[in-house]
Amino acid sequence: MSSQKIRGVKGTRDVLPTDTYVKDDDPWIRIGHLHLIERAARELFPLYGYREARTPILERTELFVRGIGEVTDIVGKEMYTFEDHGDKVSMRPENTASLVRAYVEHNVNQQEPETKWWYLGPMFRRERQQRGRYRQFTQIGIEAFGSPGPRIDAEQIEMLDRWLRSLGIPFEMHLNTLGDSACRPKYREALQAYLRSRSADLCEDCRKRTETNPIRVLDCKNPKCQEVAAGAPKMADFLCDACRGHFDQLQNSLKALGVGFIIDSRLVRGLDYYTRTAYEAIATSGLGAQSTVAGGGRYDGLVRELGGPDIPGIGFAAGVERMALLLAQQGKEAATKPALFIAPLGDAEAARADQLAQQLRAAGIAAEVGFRKANPGNQLKRADALGAKYALVLGDSELKTGRANLKELKTGVQQEVSLDELVQKLSGDR
Ligand code: HAM
Repeated sequence: MSSQKIRGVKGTRDVLPTDTYVKDDDPWIRIGHLHLIERAARELFPLYGYREARTPILERTELFVRGIGEVTDIVGKEMYTFEDHGDKVSMRPENTASLVRAYVEHNVNQQEPETKWWYLGPMFRRERQQRGRYRQFTQIGIEAFGSPGPRIDAEQIEMLDRWLRSLGIPFEMHLNTLGDSACRPKYREALQAYLRSRSADLCEDCRKRTETNPIRVLDCKNPKCQEVAAGAPKMADFLCDACRGHFDQLQNSLKALGVGFIIDSRLVRGLDYYTRTAYEAIATSGLGAQSTVAGGGRYDGLVRELGGPDIPGIGFAAGVERMALLLAQQGKEAATKPALFIAPLGDAEAARADQLAQQLRAAGIAAEVGFRKANPGNQLKRADALGAKYALVLGDSELKTGRANLKELKTGVQQEVSLDELVQKLSGDR
């Protein structure tokens, strides 16, 4: 058997509770960063009525082909797909299609007229790896079914705004409308005609996109394509009255809620299911090229497209690693640090230390004990490294008298305490 090291798969990353090394210039994301983000979502989203839903990583490939669109990069090039005894299955590249599938499969609309779900989990896209772009990444997202009006669009954008703000993420909210089946086809035609007339100035990909998915040319990163896009016809000039009304009301609602936004006519999203509202939170610093922290929009035709009733939907998903990179740069993370580190000097003391730690933990207080035979100085160093608030050395005389010195590590201040009253003493300190 070979004893060579086995490395992780390209585009995936380990998230550990510890700093190890800086890779490709990325600050190292620790699990505490992810926890901070998740905890904020778990607390905030239910305040808006969202309940958690979990769907499988594996879905039938057809779900994404029909849901996201065959000509998108995601479905065309980036899915991990394989045959499973005759079934073609894919690892989900996103969760909206899966949630719609579950919503339709379980006839949820028959139980409730409006549904609000949120989710968290890994997604998979075979993209070129770079900072903030991985082949396995985590999304936290929401989907709301059954509300056609623009007020829920505003509510979602306000919630996203609040969530990102609560974490201290620097961003701008970009907003656009993509029209619907009444007005977009005319826009698509006009755009296509324009792009064909400028095809010599487009990159190879965009020349193809002109025929298959012309709207995607608008967000190509190639500077020459961007120049062409700047002169392209705008969706805003083609909107039908209903779409125009929806977009105007959405802006009014956002203003009434005090949410700042930027109208961005080049915001088109990379998935085909969107209608009307599209929005993205874009980091204003710290992420480089992959600066879109969260993106979403309305998909009023998707439930029907996937075999369900004619029910509108809207949602967003945020890239947790991108958010974590920003928190890592700011040095923020969630971590449970021990309130007390107990350093026993011998075997009898170790047994007592273990009991004390057990009592503290039973009372909900984080406690650590020294497991290695080390002198008190080294044990205190370990306590410091763990970020413990207090340390207590347990030697022979402490065992005999039942009293010990509780040392606050930051200040060095010591106070004598009774071992029997430790739980009580530290409870007040939490
Ligand atoms: P998306 O724009 O494809 O939308 O992805 C949402 C977010 O996931 C992105 O803004 C980004 O932060 C993160 N993300 C995407 N790809 C990667 C990657 N390769 N590495 C790291 N992070 C990534 C959706 O997925 C839609 N399902 C959102 C939605 C929900 N629309 C309606 N409801």
